[in-house]
Order: sequence, then C-alpha cells, then structure tokens
Amino acid sequence: MGREFEKQIREYVRSYCVDDPSGHDWYHVERVYKMALKIAEKEGADITVVGVAALLHDVGIKKEIECGFDHSEYGANLSKEYLLRIGFDPSKIEGVVEAIREHRYGRHVKPKSLEGKVLQDADMLDALGAIGIARAFAYGGARGAPIYDPAEKAEAYDPFKVKSTITHFREKLLNIKDRLNTKTAREIGLERHRFMEQFLDEFYKEISGER
Ligand code: ADP
Ligand code: NI
Repeated sequence: MGREFEKQIREYVRSYCVDDPSGHDWYHVERVYKMALKIAEKEGADITVVGVAALLHDVGIKKEIECGFDHSEYGANLSKEYLLRIGFDPSKIEGVVEAIREHRYGRHVKPKSLEGKVLQDADMLDALGAIGIARAFAYGGARGAPIYDPAEKAEAYDPFKVKSTITHFREKLLNIKDRLNTKTAREIGLERHRFMEQFLDEFYKEISGER
C-alpha cells in the first residue's frame, strides 16, 4: 500500500477510536496490524489486503456499543464506502471487505480467504496473554460486568450476553488456542494461552484463600 494511503487510512481509523474504553482502542489496532503483517509474511498472504483490513477491522465497534449493530458487518460496509471514496486500488477492495466481514471469531465462521484467516488470527491473539487479560477486564468494566461471580455457570459462548469476566475466560478465551487458523499464530497462541492459565490458577488460589 502506498505511504499516502496508509497515512490517510490511519488518520481515518484514529478518528473512530478515540476514547474507546472496551479494549478496542487505537493501540489494539496498532497491535493487530503489526501481528497481522508478521503472520502474513510467514504464511504468504497478500500484505496490502491484510494491512488495510487490519487497520480498518474495528471501525464498526462504536456502532455496536451504542446501537447493538454487528461491528464486523457494519465495519465491512463502512470500509468499502471509504476505500472507494479515497480511490484505493479496486482490485484489492473486495479482499479487504471480506476479511473485515469475517473477522469476528465470536460468530464461529472460518474466514474463506487466507487474508481473512490471518486477520482473524491476529485479532484473536490480541485477546490472549497479558494483553488479553487486561482487555478482558477493561471490556467487562466498560460493559458493567463484575470481575467474577461464583454463582455463575460457564455455558456455550453467546456474544450478546455479557457475563462476569472470569466466566468469559472459561466460555471463550481459553478456547481460542484451538480456533487459530495458521501455524504461525498457533505457535504464538500456545504461549499466551499458558500464561492465561497461570493467571487463572493464581486467581482461584487467591479468592479461595489458599494463597
Ligand atoms: P468478537 O470477535 O467475538 O466479536 P470482540 O472483538 O467483540 O470479539 O471482543 C474481543 C475482545 O473483547 C477480547 O479481548 C475479549 O476478551 C473482550 N470481550 C468480549 N466480550 C467480553 C465479555 N463478555 N467479557 C469480557 N471481555 C470480553
Ligand atoms: Ni473485532
């Protein structure tokens, strides 16, 4: 992607990310972008499509928080309009839009293209490890969820039900390592998964009075 386009897209995305308290802020976008490019290079995916899709992947998030729209669907449509408007390479637009539309791992749909798989992997990896733990509690707080609730049962994950954050680990975050699409992401994911397990181990010990 040309430098001018990259600069322009970054500025556009930043204007959507101000003050997001739910872990979908600009630094999330920066991390996903870096991670997506790293995976794309190793897996042989189209770097331009992956880069632009990573920058734009969460532009729909505000509408989801404010109005309950699905951010992947809304963000895909918004990105398409935007890329056409700025005159971005038309041969790459569909690939970008599809990757954004399919990035949402909460929906359990495997992206069709390699670029979509890479974006989804980078986004899923940002929900794991130390950063994933921080984001989960930030999200829970922003949605008014408690840290933990001993009376709550872990069930099948429902993206439209906000439960205590510890339950969210059990319903979703601990399952992510088995959902990663690429070998490169699986290697990184396994280490982050182990770190989360250690954290939960310590957490349970502390709340039970064992430590
Ligand atoms: P999805 O792709 O399933 O839509 P999101 O992009 O909405 O996922 O959310 C991803 C991030 O938000 C993750 O870091 C995740 O831990 C956090 N998150 C989402 N739902 C919850 C929840 N109910 N409780 C705590 N954290 C959550
Ligand atoms: Ni997302």
